[in-house]
Amino acid sequence: MNSTDTTYYRAWFADYCKTFYYDDPEHQRNIRLKEEHTELVRQNAVLVARGLGLGDDDVALAELAGLFHDVGRFPQYRDHKTFRDSDSVNHAALGAKVLVEQKVLEALPKDDRESIIRAVALHNVFTVPPGVDERALLFLRIVRDADKLDIWRVFIEYFIVNPDERPSAAGLGLPDDPTYSPHILEQLRQREMVRLDDLRTLNDFKLLQLAWIFDLNFAPSLRLLRERNIVGRLAGTLPSTAEISDAITSVNNYVRERSGETR
Ligand SMILES: [Fe+2]
Repeated sequence: MNSTDTTYYRAWFADYCKTFYYDDPEHQRNIRLKEEHTELVRQNAVLVARGLGLGDDDVALAELAGLFHDVGRFPQYRDHKTFRDSDSVNHAALGAKVLVEQKVLEALPKDDRESIIRAVALHNVFTVPPGVDERALLFLRIVRDADKLDIWRVFIEYFIVNPDERPSAAGLGLPDDPTYSPHILEQLRQREMVRLDDLRTLNDFKLLQLAWIFDLNFAPSLRLLRERNIVGRLAGTLPSTAEISDAITSVNNYVRERSGETR
């Protein structure tokens, strides 16, 4: 990238979002949820990239990956009124398509453009496939960390607000009862990632969110996680049983170990 100025792209994105605004407050709340999420992922991507000591050009590219990662959410919501990919479309692939079709990144050198589009297209995969080139992989890893850091915020807020005020499309439709599945807790204890299809209750989803920590790529991301007390705040929404508290301790140990690493 020849310029570190992202003003044009931020203005493009703000205008793009406005074309999806609704008069209806419930729909509008769902759109705003993604617009605000985007802004915070953009900021997180910059923080992680700076934490990695990247040069200004690469920090700007990381910022663009954050800014555009969820661009597909808006047409997804317009056409399907949901953010559940399994009930609609893959929003990451759709986002990459929007960037290509609307020639949003045309002013960037081809390599940079392709890296950002690749990072957008793959930001939501369960496991990053082999064969992604080094540059695309860097921005992909940054945006995956930046995204998780903000999804934790979104859900911590979601869990603590009055159910009537929750953005309707943010939920997963899982029962909010006091139970959780022993095998999900076991996966967390084994430091394994949990699959969405295996969830039975909202507490299982909270455990899945804690397991995401094992997928964070960079020490600066773990440091942001610690600064924001994400583990403590998520743990506070879970039932206080001895086995949950053991699992939380083990997660905290992992975070402490990895946040001390240099990269
Ligand atoms: Fe996304």
